[in-house]
Amino acid sequence: MPCCDVDLAGIGYDGLHADEDLEDWRSGRLHPASQELIAAVRAQGIEGAALLDIGAGVGAVHLTLLEAGAATAVDVDASPEYLAVARAEAERRGLGGRVEYRHGDVVELAAQLPPADIVTLDSVICCYPYLAPLLEAAVRPNPHLVGLTYPRDVWWMRAYMRLFTLTHALRGRPGRYYVHRHDRLNQLMADAGFRNVHEGGTREWRVVLYRRAPAP
Ligand SMILES: C[S@@+](CC[C@H](N)C(=O)[O-])C[C@H]1O[C@@H](n2cnc3c(N)ncnc32)[C@H](O)[C@@H]1O
Repeated sequence: MPCCDVDLAGIGYDGLHADEDLEDWRSGRLHPASQELIAAVRAQGIEGAALLDIGAGVGAVHLTLLEAGAATAVDVDASPEYLAVARAEAERRGLGGRVEYRHGDVVELAAQLPPADIVTLDSVICCYPYLAPLLEAAVRPNPHLVGLTYPRDVWWMRAYMRLFTLTHALRGRPGRYYVHRHDRLNQLMADAGFRNVHEGGTREWRVVLYRRAPAP
């Protein structure tokens, strides 16, 4: 892949808030877009599925899906802090033996990942500058379903994310945030052989699901 010169500390920066995120999830304050992603994936059928949760954070998506009937999960995350918290939460829920953990940039690790039935990227593409290689990495394990949440491609979200990134830069923090074009994402997924089967979200955040189109 012709990519990617990224700073892991930058893309995994949000992991420094892993304990707060876990507390939010446990207290029933999981982001509505994440809740919708989980529900939409479940509605497509997850029994016995192998999951790949890219940038899983504290693990809310794959751990919930494992509890609901999926078989196994691989959690790939640029943040060691998130991986540690997700692993501890999996152990606490008795799911530790069903999850594998990989630390790094999924674009770099893609060739070493096992096949997956379902791939999820919950608020992940907004932390990564290179959309095409990230989606290539997501479809490489040959899933039939790919689910994403990401900031809406509208001017006020672009302005908000630029301001957010600028604030981080001025404070010397490595986190950088991006609003990728929805049309481009749709086109890249169509080129990879997927069609859109769910389109929703909140005013700020989009939730989409792609299913591999049947061979002609
Ligand atoms: C904003 S956090 C979201 C965490 C969690 N999915 C959630 O919604 O709460 C972005 C996550 O994506 C991860 N991430 C971003 N780009 C990545 C990449 N190329 N490879 C692996 N992890 C990545 C970060 O490390 C972080 O865990």
